[in-house]
Amino acid sequence: MDLLINGRVSRLPEGSTEPSMPLLWVLRDVLHLTGTKFGCGIAACGACTVRLDGEAVRSCVTPLSVVQGRAIQTIEGLGSAAAPHALQAAWVEHQVPQCGYCQSGMLMAAAALLARNPKPTDADIDAAMTNLCRCGTYPRVRAAIHSAAQALAPSSPAPPARRPPRRIKAQPLVFKA
Ligand code: FES
Ligand code: FES
Repeated sequence: MDLLINGRVSRLPEGSTEPSMPLLWVLRDVLHLTGTKFGCGIAACGACTVRLDGEAVRSCVTPLSVVQGRAIQTIEGLGSAAAPHALQAAWVEHQVPQCGYCQSGMLMAAAALLARNPKPTDADIDAAMTNLCRCGTYPRVRAAIHSAAQALAPSSPAPPARRPPRRIKAQPLVFKA
């Protein structure tokens, strides 16, 4: 069986999987993409979040049978140390990660949010980011998403060129007697 992961086709070894196997197990145990984390296993925490055709999904409850032929993106495909995604750069700028365990899921959920809503409000962020963080990074996550949204926004048109101020020629003062 082939899966499309991070823009490349990955072939799963014969007999290594079955259709009901959660995508998370396939990613971590079969393909050794261990950036995606196991937290609760019941779709509650979001540590296992990946993108499926651009949408955030919880891979611990997503069976292999529903992902074939669809584009899967994991944290390994979001950016790299040399070319970080705007969200990853903002995560560093705002020092978001603390223990770090929830953060790959947070980033994937944030990437899905910005893909469908490039300028989210605080309320949009709070509604979309249902991932749990035991270190309480929520305010930093929100600030970093705003920074990334700004970085990804198309640059605004340049302001019209200002005319240079007119130079006024000094006139000598003439006093008449
Ligand atoms: S491990 Fe999937 S939601 Fe917690
Ligand atoms: S950074 Fe520690 S659980 Fe989120």
